[in-house]
Amino acid sequence: MTPAPLPPASPAPARPLRVLGIETSCDETAAAVVDGDRTILSDRVLSQTGVHKPYGGIVPEIAARAHLDHLDRLIREALDEAGLGLGDIDAVAATGGPGLIGGVMVGVMAAKGIALARGLPFLAVNHLEGHALTPRLTHGLDFPYLLLLVSGGHTQLLVVEGVGRYVRLGTTIDDAAGEAFDKTAKLLGLPYPGGPAIERAAGTGDPGRFALPRPMVGRPGCDFSFSGLKTAVRHAVAALPAPLAGQDVADMAASFQAAVAAAVTDRCRRAIALFRERHAEGGALVVAGGVAANTALRTALERLAAAAGMPFIAPPHRLCTDNGAMIAWAGIERFRLGQRDDLAFAPRPRWPLDPTAPKAIGAGVKA
Ligand code: KG4
Ligand code: ZN
Repeated sequence: MTPAPLPPASPAPARPLRVLGIETSCDETAAAVVDGDRTILSDRVLSQTGVHKPYGGIVPEIAARAHLDHLDRLIREALDEAGLGLGDIDAVAATGGPGLIGGVMVGVMAAKGIALARGLPFLAVNHLEGHALTPRLTHGLDFPYLLLLVSGGHTQLLVVEGVGRYVRLGTTIDDAAGEAFDKTAKLLGLPYPGGPAIERAAGTGDPGRFALPRPMVGRPGCDFSFSGLKTAVRHAVAALPAPLAGQDVADMAASFQAAVAAAVTDRCRRAIALFRERHAEGGALVVAGGVAANTALRTALERLAAAAGMPFIAPPHRLCTDNGAMIAWAGIERFRLGQRDDLAFAPRPRWPLDPTAPKAIGAGVKA
């Protein structure tokens, strides 16, 4: 009897993997479709900045409601822009944390609903992993590399050694860098978000006028601290005639920005040395997060990387700040490794990328 013919080998995939990514952990509602060839087929981001502006910061409850109001539409727009239907998607990824829990729940529930209705795999992505893997999407960067993540919620230095393999070298012991910009802007009467406003004001200011502290500079390790700097600004402002003159604001903004750049550069110098202890060859210094848009900081870091003989990589600004494409990409990377998450996944307000990292001394609620 002739044996039954073997079933045909599973056909080579006719097209690259396509993943829908959803981001709702902070104040951006975002949905994107990315494929395994590193093509961003669509990338919709709705910023809530205007909604939170009157409060001078993000109000979690208002953020969660705004995600709820807009996410469905953004997902539809992302699929339309990609020219795809849900039937053309291979998996759904959503930020599962860390972040403002109400917002994370909105994104995770939407992703689970789609996954369940369409029988698609679901991936709960660590938001920080989304940032950490972005240079592989934008630049096809190989592991390992050093990542400086400086946003409104996070300030971390990580060695990225592989998908799911992160070594945290440092984090903030108090405020995040972006938070320091936002709080300092408030002290100077500048609008929210403070980073761009401070950078604009600093353009006509003298960075040498106020001798502000350079927090942590020269201290061992790679941790950050910004609350002392903010306090020093408050004291310096109190010593000036009120209301502040335009030039005083500009000089203070420039002095503050210079202090942040010096402090962050010092921490990165140490991190590069630690990176070199682990990896004698290769590597790159990558920046991500909203604060990475700051030109004074970028210039200082570019110089540092050049002196260390390391390429300096800054993904395009749109992909440095929160977006759905980074979540879709992290989903693709994990999917390829056979990872999937259960629909019972519970959103996580805290979710450190490197659970073995010691807690920074004085660390508060930051992940
Ligand atoms: O990554 P991001 O858009 O949102 C999250 O925090 O997740 O970062 C926003 C932060 C805000 O604190 C904002 O003030 C800061 O990035 N930022 C800047 C600049 N643009 C945005 N900080 C300094 N200089 C800038 N040009
Ligand atoms: Zn972020």
